Amino acid sequence: MRIVALMLIVALGACRTEPGPNEPTYYGQVRPILAARCAACHSDGGIAPFALTSYEAVYARRTEIRRALDRRTMPPWPPAPDCNEYANDRALKPDERDLLAAWLSAGAPAGDPADEASPVEGGGGDRQSFDLVLAMPESYTPRLSPDDYRCFLIDWPERTPTYVTGLSITPGQTSIVHHVIVYLAQPEHAAEYAALDAADPGPGYTCFGGPVGTRGGGLGGWVPGSLGHAYPDGTGIAVRPGTKVVLQVHYNTPAVSAKPDRTAVSFSRASTVLREAVFLPWSDPAWLEPGGMPIPAGAKQVVHTFAADPTLYFAATGVPLPFAAGEPVRIHGVAHHQHVLGTRGRIALRRAQGAEECLLSIPQWDFHWQGEYFLTTPTVALPGDQLGLECQWDNSAENQPVVDGVRQPPRDVEWGDGTTDEMCVAFFYVTGV
Ligand code: HEC
Repeated sequence: MRIVALMLIVALGACRTEPGPNEPTYYGQVRPILAARCAACHSDGGIAPFALTSYEAVYARRTEIRRALDRRTMPPWPPAPDCNEYANDRALKPDERDLLAAWLSAGAPAGDPADEASPVEGGGGDRQSFDLVLAMPESYTPRLSPDDYRCFLIDWPERTPTYVTGLSITPGQTSIVHHVIVYLAQPEHAAEYAALDAADPGPGYTCFGGPVGTRGGGLGGWVPGSLGHAYPDGTGIAVRPGTKVVLQVHYNTPAVSAKPDRTAVSFSRASTVLREAVFLPWSDPAWLEPGGMPIPAGAKQVVHTFAADPTLYFAATGVPLPFAAGEPVRIHGVAHHQHVLGTRGRIALRRAQGAEECLLSIPQWDFHWQGEYFLTTPTVALPGDQLGLECQWDNSAENQPVVDGVRQPPRDVEWGDGTTDEMCVAFFYVTGV
């Protein structure tokens, strides 16, 4: 009897380490999935707290991985699946999820290392083409607390007109760099920006909410969760010789002490593109007026909405555009931005005939996982269409930020750049048709 029991245990044990013929193994099927879906963050120096690039590391975390898969918290991917499809979707496909679940249920067997094709690499897939790296001229230690918004000027080094076709940002200090937005100071405004820089002692200048000078468009941004990306094929944003790149860095230092930061941006470039693009913000101008976007203290559900004809709205921004007012606009990319009280966001295009096209829906807004989403199939907005933006907030007592271990009392909140103010902004990466 005892011997039978022992044999059974041995047999079960053998089952665990030597997978059956149809059982997935780490070196067989699991490793490529983790490399494609996890390693961009979970590798040495990545933004995740641990690497998932070796069998030992993955095996040691198998219980946590199971939990993260069950709760669908990893990989972080906030857009609702029933709204639209994105070229840069990093969510697990259903068959990948099933395979990982089956592998974990089988005891996470290693399989044969000989199946290993090539070493797992971290970082974004096409990162090697980001070959122009521009860093802040010198490092800066934030002085204002809890929020220091600082703009740094970097000379664009190209001598001929160039298109930026992708961008990736490397924050110097991930613990304090809250967001980075890359603006362009056009050559005719460069002196105006240099004067702002010269008037403020130390590297860069204080720039609460924007680069202060005459706006010249932007190149995109970095927030926790962004990995950097190439823009859609055949498109790029024009940058002329003599332009200054303005890095607006928001340092947030409520809990951690300030450290010297030197953030860098890497660009991919092309000398020509099929269609010139621009990155443009979208919000109701009335929200920026005093009292224009009230979020009263204690209110559990506050919603603000705005809609306008995009073929007219973009022309009114003052940014030089590659298309004229009233002409159709092709929308390739979309992003959504609120602050910490935000709970939900939605961006949709309502056709003049009444049909609605959902562009981005974030059913559970999480400030830490913002991103830019590129539509698998770009859509064309026509004159008469209405592009709508909707934001919801929870300003009740239980949804307040915790500072130094103390939950803050609710207060009346309005539009503003500080992390305790709120915003409701969409960003669109658009071209002509
Ligand atoms: C875009 C970056 C990113 C990707 C992609 C990503 N992770 Fe994470 N992961 C993080 C960060 C950052 C944390 C730390 C906790 C946090 O901030 O949510 C984390 C935490 C975890 C944890 C700890 C428990 C938890 O849920 O917080 C597990 C387990 C995990 N990740 C597994 C995975 C797996 C498996 C994949 C791929 C299928 C993956 N992650 C993809 C960024 C990422």
